[in-house]
Amino acid sequence: MTASYDLWMEALSLFPGGVNSPVRASLKPYPFYVERAEGAYLYTVDGKKYMDFVLGYGPLILGHRDRRVLEKVIDQVERGWLYGTPTPVEVELARKILGHMYPGGKIRFVNSGTEATLTAVRLARGYTGRKYIVKFDGCYHGSNDYLLVSSGSAVEHYGIPASKGVIDEVARYTIVAEFNSVESVERIMERYGDDVAGVIVEPVMGNLGVIPGRREFIEYLRKITREYGSLLIFDEVITGFRLGLSGASGYYNVKPDLVTLGKIIGGGFPVGAIAGRADVMDELSPKGKVFNAGTFNAHPVTMAAGLATLEILEQGELSYADRAAEEVSKAIRDELGDMGINYALNRAASMFQVFLGVERVENASMARKSNGELHGKLQRALLEKGVFIAPSRLEAIFTSTKHTGEELEKAVEAFTTAVRELGE
Ligand SMILES: Cc1ncc(COP(=O)(O)O)c(C=O)c1O
Repeated sequence: MTASYDLWMEALSLFPGGVNSPVRASLKPYPFYVERAEGAYLYTVDGKKYMDFVLGYGPLILGHRDRRVLEKVIDQVERGWLYGTPTPVEVELARKILGHMYPGGKIRFVNSGTEATLTAVRLARGYTGRKYIVKFDGCYHGSNDYLLVSSGSAVEHYGIPASKGVIDEVARYTIVAEFNSVESVERIMERYGDDVAGVIVEPVMGNLGVIPGRREFIEYLRKITREYGSLLIFDEVITGFRLGLSGASGYYNVKPDLVTLGKIIGGGFPVGAIAGRADVMDELSPKGKVFNAGTFNAHPVTMAAGLATLEILEQGELSYADRAAEEVSKAIRDELGDMGINYALNRAASMFQVFLGVERVENASMARKSNGELHGKLQRALLEKGVFIAPSRLEAIFTSTKHTGEELEKAVEAFTTAVRELGE
């Protein structure tokens, strides 16, 4: 038995389902435990080495343990790691993020993407004095009650709780629309528009594989929310600083009222943020009456790691991650094309996913129809070749700036062979 197996057996008695976040239990028959990481690689307690395309589920755009980030983190730790007061580094990071993503706007740092979306919804309701929120089937905004809502069988109607413990009275004010469907949003807004506080969307869906919003759709969301006086909220927890320095707003050239951020802006440390229009953000406490607070908000170590990361990305390294995703996607496409397997390969910058057994994936129901079993086979074949992708087609495959040169060549070869084995 392996060291990972022993740890897993004990973990099953310590944690519900053996883990501290459900996705970590999805590697079968049991997850591997990681001892250390460097560059593009994870090193397990079993002495194995995996090239990492999960990257902490998105934050590690620079790969693992980038020395330049490490130095800034150590420098901060040497000077103390929590003060309960404002710090210069939070001002610097805020200046940088807003400069790229929302010039003239304001920002509030919190500790997770979940807190960011929770606060954005509360803020949209507080600012507009309205109750309803519109979200999209398949978009994930963290584990907050307001958005842990699914459409049930009736898309475009009152949401139903997606988890036990989320009460109907909360879920019913979240309406679920179909992603990439102008008609779906139109019908909802005609009926509820005057009572809609905000429309929240992942402009490129990253939690059901990768599904980019169509340009006309994203532009329409801007237009219709303006018409009804509802706030448009881009959830850029994944896409912020991955789709480019100005995130999805820059990618689509559409300016939302609020943006939620997380992952990359903390350089791999716990983080979240809400940014956007100054007049809306000023509704947050202590200036305004929408409450938000946090012992760890703008944690100095996180701020230092985030700042170091963004400084590196500003120097142009983001293109390495994009190139890696492009090359690996091309290899998958070439191989699948030769084999005559139907597929849809969706990519936006350095995030992509291949859906097998379907020709197009533009919304959640199309993604769910793709062949999960065949994708599982691909994932297991990759793992055997020392490549780790998330064990579900409903997650994204991420690349980092460390997937270059020799690593990229190895990755292309592993993906090509693993895809070829699907036909065997
Ligand atoms: C788009 C999006 N929003 C929000 C969240 C929640 O972030 P966190 O896990 O940091 O709470 C996630 C997490 O994956 C996400 O992908």
